[in-house]
Amino acid sequence: MLLPFTETGRGQPIMLVHSFPADRRIWSAVAEILSRQFRVICPDLHGFGANPPASKLSINAMAKDIADLAVTLHAAPCPMGGLSMGGYVIQAVARDYPATINRLILVDTKAAADNPAQRDARDAIAALAYEHGSSAVFEKMRPNLLSPDAKPAAVGFARMIAEAQSPITLTAASLAMRDRDDYTELLPRLKIPIHLIFGEHDATMPPEAANALHESVPGSTHTQISGAGHLSPLENPAEVAAAITAALQSKPL
Ligand code: MLT
Repeated sequence: MLLPFTETGRGQPIMLVHSFPADRRIWSAVAEILSRQFRVICPDLHGFGANPPASKLSINAMAKDIADLAVTLHAAPCPMGGLSMGGYVIQAVARDYPATINRLILVDTKAAADNPAQRDARDAIAALAYEHGSSAVFEKMRPNLLSPDAKPAAVGFARMIAEAQSPITLTAASLAMRDRDDYTELLPRLKIPIHLIFGEHDATMPPEAANALHESVPGSTHTQISGAGHLSPLENPAEVAAAITAALQSKPL
């Protein structure tokens, strides 16, 4: 089944994939700016947003859904941007469905797989979602999602989107992230441009980690988004849209 999606604007297509615990609306403000110049496609990953809840998820299956959507919409190959969990998904797209993607834009995300402590934390979030619901997941994750000075409107929007997600899906997605593959050796081997965009105050991918990732991927570009935490497209959409625009207008490899 095709993923539900929003499509705005015309011209060069770009696919933007959302984070956890969220849906396509996390990209709304950035998509609104980008759609003045580009055709912007924002899907809801399986189980999220307008989909029915999903009790079993994997990052690799999500990647297939995204590749299928790009092909069905006659957008492939296209640049893809992924925020955090969405970044895990599009790295799997680049590995498994390379004919569908021609530029990788990684926003507040990681290449490395989870270490044992991080895997344990995924189990705890899965249990929290299952037992206490989506709101409890948001409150637990909130310090890592938004900068300390995040505007109340940004916090409220992130909470509203998180609370709209099914606890069943959040449980399954947490376990899917726990079991995701490691992409650290993949990235330097990819034959497409790679752009890294990170919030200045991202607690899960602090500037040192973002710099280290940038240095490990020869030829990658790296933009720091001022005043933003992990959800930089929500906290500073203008700078994120400008960074994506610059990426889309840069030369192919
Ligand atoms: C996200 O924003 O998608 C999550 O924070 C990803 C993660 O926990 O690794």
